[in-house]
Amino acid sequence: MAIERTLCIIKPDGVRSGNIGNIIAHIQKEGFKVLSLKMTRLTKQAGGVFYEVHKGRPFYDELVNFMSSGPCVPIALEKENAIAEWRRVIGATDPAEADPGTIRKLYAKNKGENAVHGSDSVENGKREIGFFFTEQELADLA
Ligand code: CMP
Repeated sequence: MAIERTLCIIKPDGVRSGNIGNIIAHIQKEGFKVLSLKMTRLTKQAGGVFYEVHKGRPFYDELVNFMSSGPCVPIALEKENAIAEWRRVIGATDPAEADPGTIRKLYAKNKGENAVHGSDSVENGKREIGFFFTEQELADLA
């Protein structure tokens, strides 16, 4: 299996509920390499661009409003099979359907405010990581 990258975002609800540390601990316990991370706040315009693949869906406006409602913490992650692995670790979009022990089961409220984001493909992961991080920020500083 190949080494892949995925973008995690600790969403505004995860920040507001005081779970940044718990979620980062979960990431590290699962063996992901943290390439870079920051705290930022999306404008509505930037949130709209980030989620433009969902434009036209009934939840799009709510999603963009929510994602720009407060600070979030994007984290670029690397691991073997990272896209599928991260989706396994976070659980289903709707926390009510997420497996026990997953991040969304532990920390999310509902389908809209679901604590974390994960890229759905290697290609989207590249775009999403590039949205938040420069090449220099992703460079191995070790
Ligand atoms: P995320 O992985 O960040 O990607 C798109 C987001 O849309 C998703 O998580 C959900 O938080 C949000 N969303 C809100 N309502 C819905 C819905 N009905 N179906 C799918 N995604 C939704």
